[in-house]
Amino acid sequence: MEAIKNYISEHKERFISELIDLLKMPSVSADTAFTQDVLDTADAVKKALTEAGCDAVEICETDGYPIVYGEKIINSDLPTVLVYGHYDVQPADPINLWTSPPFEPVIKKTDKHPEGAIFARGACDDKGQMYMHVKAMEYMVKTNQLPCNVKFMIEGEEEVGSSNLAIFVANNKEKLANDIILISDTGMIANDVPSITTGLRGLSYVEVEVTGPNRDLHSGLYGGAVANPINILTKMIASLHDENNHITIPGFYDKVEELSKEERAEMAKAPFSLENYKDALDIDAVYGENGYTTNERNSIRPTLDVNGIWGGYTGEGAKTVIASKAFAKISMRLVPNQDWKEITELFKKHFESIAPEGAKVLVKPHHGGQGYVTPINTIGYQAASKAYETTFGKKPIPQRSGGSIPIVALFEKELNSKTILMGFGLDSDAIHSPNEHFGVWNYLKGIETIPYFYKYYTELFKK
Ligand code: BES
Ligand code: MN
Ligand code: MN
Repeated sequence: MEAIKNYISEHKERFISELIDLLKMPSVSADTAFTQDVLDTADAVKKALTEAGCDAVEICETDGYPIVYGEKIINSDLPTVLVYGHYDVQPADPINLWTSPPFEPVIKKTDKHPEGAIFARGACDDKGQMYMHVKAMEYMVKTNQLPCNVKFMIEGEEEVGSSNLAIFVANNKEKLANDIILISDTGMIANDVPSITTGLRGLSYVEVEVTGPNRDLHSGLYGGAVANPINILTKMIASLHDENNHITIPGFYDKVEELSKEERAEMAKAPFSLENYKDALDIDAVYGENGYTTNERNSIRPTLDVNGIWGGYTGEGAKTVIASKAFAKISMRLVPNQDWKEITELFKKHFESIAPEGAKVLVKPHHGGQGYVTPINTIGYQAASKAYETTFGKKPIPQRSGGSIPIVALFEKELNSKTILMGFGLDSDAIHSPNEHFGVWNYLKGIETIPYFYKYYTELFKK
């Protein structure tokens, strides 16, 4: 299959320009100002799948944004790979922190990407990574090397919780039947340290509201005599961690899977420089749960973080006021065995219980999902590992990620299949941040590696 390298060098300018065209479409699922753009992007994905050689490409309507589905079934005796990805992107703001406009992709060199990276919202998460699969498919179909059946399911609501996809999956089990699910929507350690993501954290996302007096008050006339919701809220939030940075919600850790010494030692072998980590973030120390390393804190341990907090006067100058209400958005990242609905309930019960007299607390659950760990003794993992070994010349390291793709646990439950997470992004690619980018090298390496997965997976499947 050296041929894939030739195919890539022959077509790489087109591969890049097609991705750039897709990145120009502002498919922000969270913001209704972009509704038409999200719908147009679904059409563009449909066209791309058709051109890549999928046989039956359809736009599947949902109560939200559509799911683009396409397949190529060559022989029912052969295995079926289901590729999942998302065409929606995170909001681009704060726009003023971008060095070039988020929906006007440009290629710029970076320290980590000396060959250049495409800067645009969605470049890495997930349009660039999703499109690698479309181009790998094009290669396999055009050169008659597709070794098995393929189904594509590309959704438009991943960044807002995938609730309509969950319904679609439950209602279309037969259509989506597969032997293995393949996703590129995660990262790897470094371009010379390939890794395969073997775990995703679960998530519980809640919003809280604290109400004090029934109207905003003069902070002199009433200050000191009534509960100030912002003071109360920040105090309540501060109490959610103890001096060891453990989360104080009763029952929160009850089901957390404790890794054995051996498993932790194995994890610690992955190359990691704390100095580089701190340098990259301009921090002089890391911070987190006592007794765990940085890599453990952000993968095998659960967390609780305020994602946003507001209330009172934040405009120019000063206004002396005690606000009537204060708000916060809080995410909890969960690890295997923690049930997100149960944790959401525990949070709600606890948060309501710690509200002092004189303040009312409302907890509004948003969305969530279960964590996921993929076993490495499967033919799916072995095929992926061999694929990386072939194209990177190195065996990839299995590594659990801190991020979440809640739909993966649901796939396992509804479709009864495992997911292989072949991510080609780097942590420094700034997903969800200003100046998101995806290395051109990574993009092309992904296109090169994916066809080997199909080849090895089909070979191992037949054995
Ligand atoms: N692709 C990311 C998740 C990710 C990134 C996992 C890197 C591992 C490594 C996905 O698009 C995402 O952002 N997920 C959200 C959750 C979702 C429910 C909004 C997340 O992790 O915050
Ligand atoms: Mn993603
Ligand atoms: Mn994302």
